[in-house]
Amino acid sequence: MYRTHTCGELNLAKKGTKVTLSGWVHRSRDLGGMTFIDLRDRYGLTQLVFNMDTNAELCKQARSLGREFVIQVTGIVTERSNKNLKISTGEIEIIVDELTILSSSVTPPFTLEEKSDGGDDLRMKYRYLDLRREVVRKNLELRHRMAMETRNYLSSLNFLEIETPVLVNSTPEGARDFVVPSRMNPGEFYALPQSPQTLKQLLMVAGMDRYFQIVKCFRDEDLRADRQPEFTQIDCEMAFVDRDDILDTFAGLISHLFKSVKGVDFEQNIPRMTFNEAMERYGCDKPDIRFGMEISDMTELVKGKSFVVFDSADYIGGICASGCAEYTRKQTDELTAFVQKPQIGAKGLIYAKVNADGSIKSSVDKFYSEEDLKKWAELLQAKAGDMIFVMAGPKKQTLNALNELRLEMGNRLGLRDKNIFRPLWVIDFPLLEWDEESKRFYAMHHPFTSPMDEDMEYFTTDPGKVRAKAYDMVINGVEVGGGSIRIHNSDVQKLMFKNLGMGEEEVKRKFSFIMDAFRYGAPPHGGIAFGFDRLAAMFAGLDSIRDVIAFPKNNAGKDVMLDTPGPISQEQLDELQIKTIKKQA
Ligand code: AMO
Repeated sequence: MYRTHTCGELNLAKKGTKVTLSGWVHRSRDLGGMTFIDLRDRYGLTQLVFNMDTNAELCKQARSLGREFVIQVTGIVTERSNKNLKISTGEIEIIVDELTILSSSVTPPFTLEEKSDGGDDLRMKYRYLDLRREVVRKNLELRHRMAMETRNYLSSLNFLEIETPVLVNSTPEGARDFVVPSRMNPGEFYALPQSPQTLKQLLMVAGMDRYFQIVKCFRDEDLRADRQPEFTQIDCEMAFVDRDDILDTFAGLISHLFKSVKGVDFEQNIPRMTFNEAMERYGCDKPDIRFGMEISDMTELVKGKSFVVFDSADYIGGICASGCAEYTRKQTDELTAFVQKPQIGAKGLIYAKVNADGSIKSSVDKFYSEEDLKKWAELLQAKAGDMIFVMAGPKKQTLNALNELRLEMGNRLGLRDKNIFRPLWVIDFPLLEWDEESKRFYAMHHPFTSPMDEDMEYFTTDPGKVRAKAYDMVINGVEVGGGSIRIHNSDVQKLMFKNLGMGEEEVKRKFSFIMDAFRYGAPPHGGIAFGFDRLAAMFAGLDSIRDVIAFPKNNAGKDVMLDTPGPISQEQLDELQIKTIKKQA
């Protein structure tokens, strides 16, 4: 037997008991005639004591142990004189009388403490060491609890967990595919699923009624803190439902997860906001509603005062930052530089300060009188001590810049508390999105999303006007999930493909399997998928999903530990009948 107990469970109740523990040497200190070792395993730390006076041989052996050696010890549980009440085993220590080295260790490349001295790349290269750190391990434990609660909750509602294949064909989520060559079918490729979208719909046609899967999805897209090339969804689909059935069921799942895993109760039902309202009030389709600072449309109010920037603009909008009238020139310059960053692309930032005495000073005093500025303050409900920020330009771009500035100000003013959770359903998305470059519509969600019944009349006349039965769940400004009611009628589906500029041939090649299936009695159905990594990161209070994934990829899509992707042998290439070409630099 390697151990009678773990390193996290012994306490005074076991005083005087002979125990055997196994684990890693976490820390070691020599104090006079004594050597203390903190022995670590997944469950905690236990202090071991070796005494030079009573067992010099053993104590010398203990002193020779390096960090991260794996050892087994036997000894007696004893009350500690110097108690550490911060850890569960802090009232006891083990007076060791037997020590076996199970495995030695070279010196780890970074410290395995809460705050490690290892940089990101180093920790990723030695991820198995990084995972020994309590902070990282706790994230995986949290993820496990969330997965278990999800399974239990959905099973209790009659959902079946059904696995779907990973070697499939292209799935329609709009990113690039990862592809896998087929040796048995030379020149042919599988695609890895961007989501199990079409397969879960086929499960509904198959009569499975309620499906879920905690499933890996693969998307070859630009990576960010909340995006990995392979990530996990809680993927769900239901038959014989309309939008409200889905929203209610999955508000239930999310409330259950928050309550059971984090002890957080949502006091009210999750509010709903239309896409248009979210865009107008917050400048984005995933608003962080933990704080106000909403956008006001100032277009009508500010035009006609000979200020050409405003007079020539398509849209002018502003936000009011409470208590920021004292901002210095340096601070407003910083914010101007922030909104002018290429990825935000605003031309400039105009401000108006409401002074303590109620007078208003702006960066455009030349064009706007105190009277005019008072009207701005009125519209934005700015009080003494507040600062108004205004931007002008094309509407979509300006709303986006206002959204970025609002979030930045939210951060600066400490309004985005990680311990507060404000979920929101964003509904009534447009069905289609026009792309100016390719001069065609794209599905905003995916091509199987149903149009709203009341907008069907525009489907043939003005497709850009059609709203979708689609919804996203947004928490604290993060899109944690999205889904839709699906088209289950082949004629409507054909029309949708037509609007997406897909000819009959293309549809047949890509989607004949699902079009065929719909001919055999498809129930009305709909579903949703939650980004499991994003939810786990939010529960852990982290900004990056990498920390809740055991073996994540870096921003270049590489696993630096496995050193992948990498070349394959010429034999493998020959077998697959694949020739690689080096791009000329
Ligand atoms: P969607 O594409 O909106 O919908 O994806 C659902 C959720 O998955 C998460 N997500 C990601 N998380 C990490 N890395 C990524 N690269 C990534 N991409 C998406 C997001 C997102 O809300 N088949 C549909 C669902 C449906 O209609 O039922 C789908 O995949 O949190």
